[in-house]
Amino acid sequence: MSPEIFDRLSLLSEPLRVRMLRLLEREELGVGELARVVQVSQPTVSRHLKQLHQGGFVVRRKAGTASLFRMHCDGLDPAARALWELVRGEVEQEARDSSSQFAEDLRRLSSVLAQRAVDSGALFRRLGSRWDGVRRELFGEAYVAPAVAAMLPDDLVIADLGCGTGATLPLLAPVAGRLIGLDREAAMLAVARQRTSGMDNVELIEGLLDDLPIPGRTVDVALCQLVLHHVADLPPVFREVARVLVEGGRFVIVDMVEHDRVDLQATMGHQHPGFSRETIAALAESTGLSLRRWQVLPPDPDAQGPGLFVAVLRPGA
Ligand SMILES: C[S@@+](CC[C@H](N)C(=O)[O-])C[C@H]1O[C@@H](n2cnc3c(N)ncnc32)[C@H](O)[C@@H]1O
Repeated sequence: MSPEIFDRLSLLSEPLRVRMLRLLEREELGVGELARVVQVSQPTVSRHLKQLHQGGFVVRRKAGTASLFRMHCDGLDPAARALWELVRGEVEQEARDSSSQFAEDLRRLSSVLAQRAVDSGALFRRLGSRWDGVRRELFGEAYVAPAVAAMLPDDLVIADLGCGTGATLPLLAPVAGRLIGLDREAAMLAVARQRTSGMDNVELIEGLLDDLPIPGRTVDVALCQLVLHHVADLPPVFREVARVLVEGGRFVIVDMVEHDRVDLQATMGHQHPGFSRETIAALAESTGLSLRRWQVLPPDPDAQGPGLFVAVLRPGA
């Protein structure tokens, strides 16, 4: 039998330490909070915390000037875990009696946590860098794009050129005055039609990028998202976009940065291995547009394709 077992038995033989561990398994707590729950002085709590910390049962995290403690659940040694589970099983039996000390501890813990929730400043200091994970867990990421889209003026005429199955149209429809989705493939448009049914401001058009069936000077924003690498001859497309844009309009391009994934030509029919800033700027200049913004986008951790950029072009020099 390893000598550590006796240290662990000794640590778990003190009822106050067991009560503290049971609370720290549920919540990360400061010394003051723990003292209020178990109703002993802070120096006494600190002394027991120190022992539990030395024994590997709890971990400490600094949050500003405060120290926060929680049970070292993931990192607990298997033998220590087995021992703790045995003790906890007994304790939880006893906690069923609502007048027991253990039941009382959980009631006090709730009220201490309720006080903490009121002070959101303290909450965010406590969460620190963990907020990103909490935010993702609670709310996901899907709301970010609609929130950003909502910042656009809501009377814009937007043309999603090469809209495909219309994945972007539901995002733009609520904030557009008129939304055109154009693609040369009827099969893609059929899916886009289903997707946008009931969206009265959406108009789907079968057509070609180099011969847009759209009157001149009528579009505020033209979007080509993941489209241009499929088009061998690009200047006629840029010229058409320049023709339909209103003065002060925008041509937004989202596409791949230059890459060496030659397989994509064979498997996906790509005509260009991505684009450099210089290529887009030169295309713009030769067609009456100018490149106003070039941003290489941060890679999505789940994405397997080449990196993407967003470029904004505007009519004129
Ligand atoms: C890779 S998909 C992207 C679809 C959509 N923009 C998206 O982000 O999911 C490219 C689309 O461009 C369309 N396309 C390619 N060349 C075109 C052209 N010359 N005229 C019109 N549409 C074209 C294809 O039919 C296809 O639906």
